[in-house]
Amino acid sequence: MNKQFRKIAVLTSGGDAPGMNACVRAVTRAALSRGLEVIGFYGGYSGLLNNKMKTLNHGDVSNIVNEGGTFLYTDRCLEFKTEEGMKKAIACCRDNGIDGIVCIGGDGTFRGATDLSNHGIPTIGLTGSIDNDITASDYTIGFDTAMNTVCVMIDRLRDTCESHARCNVVEVMGRDCGEIALRTGIACGAVAVAIPEIPFDETAAFEKIKTLRAGGKRNFIVTVSEGLGKYGEELAKKIEEATGVETKFARLAHVCRGGRPTLRDRLTAAEMGTMAVELMLEGKSNLVVVEREGKLVTCDINYSHIVDRMYKNKLKEGDLDPYSAEEIASMKELCAYRKAEIERLYAMVGDLA
Ligand code: F6P
Repeated sequence: MNKQFRKIAVLTSGGDAPGMNACVRAVTRAALSRGLEVIGFYGGYSGLLNNKMKTLNHGDVSNIVNEGGTFLYTDRCLEFKTEEGMKKAIACCRDNGIDGIVCIGGDGTFRGATDLSNHGIPTIGLTGSIDNDITASDYTIGFDTAMNTVCVMIDRLRDTCESHARCNVVEVMGRDCGEIALRTGIACGAVAVAIPEIPFDETAAFEKIKTLRAGGKRNFIVTVSEGLGKYGEELAKKIEEATGVETKFARLAHVCRGGRPTLRDRLTAAEMGTMAVELMLEGKSNLVVVEREGKLVTCDINYSHIVDRMYKNKLKEGDLDPYSAEEIASMKELCAYRKAEIERLYAMVGDLA
């Protein structure tokens, strides 16, 4: 065992995601099994700033593997981004003998973890977000549960659309990432899908609905990503005007984020949590555990952050300076792969509707 790691901490930060509890449990139990002490910080990074923590024993993580939300609570902590906030966080780690922190969350969480690592506190990031918007990873814990929840809701809307011969435009979460809207749209037989990544062809959608209606189809589902702002509501009005099919709008919002985690999310949480502890014991840090082609691998946390910015066209001057030409090429490859996946799936929507 690496003597450097005797006591580790775990926290959940950013939007909660089903499977976060299973992940905290995995980190805790894997660490305890290997002779480490575990601290849980409450309320994400704000727990670090305000010394809100608890020693986690075996029983403290009992009966949560199947629970949604996060029993450690979560926050989007603005103070943590300040120099003053960082000083408090470092002092808290030093005072409590914390050797490393496992941070479960999305891109904002990893930014925080990077800052901590850069200030000498070893961190491992685990991808917990319903959005599936970490470019370096094919998967984030919570994505599968959120999609299954959305499917259940859309199936219900479809029933009532069928009875009334209506269309329903359904807006789902995902921030700037259209993955939830796209994949649930395919799985629920949507007639059209509108996401930030691909320009939406309104005329084609209207024509499709008109043709299908003329052929006798009575229910129409259109999924829209919240990343398009108020577009979902506008689109519902436009569809009704252009096609004559009565159209309702439904915003699923935070409903997407609750509920018991699916098997996929529990398993991924268990595997990622265990791997985080193993990495720390190997003396590794400043890494994110990511899924690539069905396997868990690690990725430098800074790299993951920059590749995210590259994918989202948010690169700042100097962001790429620390990276070699090869690393930049691999970042571009990752972005291209992700874009191609979305385009491939998007093409399916039109084909199958
Ligand atoms: O990142 C997860 C997420 O649920 C996004 O899909 C959504 O845009 C955002 O969080 C909502 O955040 P909040 O709960 O703070 O309103």
